[in-house]
Amino acid sequence: MFMVFGCWRLKEEFSLKKVVLAYSGGLDTSVAIKWLEDRYGYKVIAVTADVGQGSELTTIREKALGVGALEAYAIDAKDEFLREFAFRALKANAIYEGEYTLASALSRPLITKLLVDVAERTGADAIAHGCTGKGNDQVRFDVSAAALAPHLKVIAPVREWPLSREEAMDYAAEHGIPVPTAKKTPYSIDYNLWGRSIECGVLEDPWMEPPAEVYQITRSPADCPEEPTYVEIGFERGLPVSLDDELLSPVALVTKLNEIAGAQGIGRVDHVENRLVGIKSREIYEAPAATALLAAHRDLEDLTLARELAHFKRSLESKYAELIYFGLWYSPLREALDAFIDKTQENVTGVVRLKLHRGNLAVVGRKSPYSLYDFALATYDKEDEYNHAAAVGFIEVWGMPTRIAARLERAKAATAQPQAAGGAASPAPGSNAAGHDEDGR
Ligand code: ARG
Repeated sequence: MFMVFGCWRLKEEFSLKKVVLAYSGGLDTSVAIKWLEDRYGYKVIAVTADVGQGSELTTIREKALGVGALEAYAIDAKDEFLREFAFRALKANAIYEGEYTLASALSRPLITKLLVDVAERTGADAIAHGCTGKGNDQVRFDVSAAALAPHLKVIAPVREWPLSREEAMDYAAEHGIPVPTAKKTPYSIDYNLWGRSIECGVLEDPWMEPPAEVYQITRSPADCPEEPTYVEIGFERGLPVSLDDELLSPVALVTKLNEIAGAQGIGRVDHVENRLVGIKSREIYEAPAATALLAAHRDLEDLTLARELAHFKRSLESKYAELIYFGLWYSPLREALDAFIDKTQENVTGVVRLKLHRGNLAVVGRKSPYSLYDFALATYDKEDEYNHAAAVGFIEVWGMPTRIAARLERAKAATAQPQAAGGAASPAPGSNAAGHDEDGR
């Protein structure tokens, strides 16, 4: 194709049907490059987003072109991933089912956005991804695309083709696609700066303890240092900005914290989760930085948010996590929640001190210029300024409904007829069961 020059090439390029494929460099998406051409007559534009998965992007790009992609892009999306996706989830304290810090789920809407951008720039009329028909990720890609570019078709080759792994290998061999020679890991792995997700293989038996080999970015607690590690995380308006007083960019901070916390075995999760498609699945996660940041952030909120605000915000957090998991990132609800959450973060500035040791994480100190903690009110020592007498009146009023209801219950019990006599268990009309004054107050 590249041998055709001048207007011929132009004409040809314009008449090409193009699809933008999320390309990982693996067997499935490599086969997909050929398959999209065979099956649909599409020329493929491969896009690989770097969200911190640690793969060599130039090699992946070259591989895509080698397999027959018309164009291939490798996009460094790490900064955007953290600022626009992971850190919003952090401000929301988003953890799905109380366990999963949502690394994979957060990357999908971003990758979809990148695919859509390239599709719009290159005049492609479809995007494609390598998800199966069983998981959550297909939903996240498809629904994100529906929100961003409803006119684009979404093709999921792996969901459509009937190829087993062996057949995919044969197809690859027939079409000159490099077939992986290394023994394939039995696990399906997804990895970015916010965490690593591992499923399949022996993990499909929820009774089986995960083999040591599944963990790559967290040390086993048994092999962790004797001494704990302390780390101080600085936040500004809910966003992490420093580690041990050193100001760092989001990517530098999360990369470094992954190393520090991973070395103390922080962030391992073994979770049987409820997928959106109705299946329960067992997944192992490693999320050292995310786990540490979420714990620190929530603690700083405890110090800086007024009680009613804190409680109300907590009630929304699981909803926020759920909408990320359910593929509804691009939704009016997420935008409205973000507006609320951003308002709540105005005073979430300060430093949190964490103690990390052999898989355990403890917040051991926190401070803020906007702390609502008042020593003079909290202390039991002689500096105490709290008005103890005021508590009596407060409790009198606060406990009033409880007292009134309890009086009624006692009066009912006292006047209840034994069941055998067939009497009703309610107080006689006109009796003042609740025991209040004549005027009813
Ligand atoms: N279960 C997680 C989710 O739905 C992770 C999915 C990523 N997959 C993997 N290959 N392990 O967000």
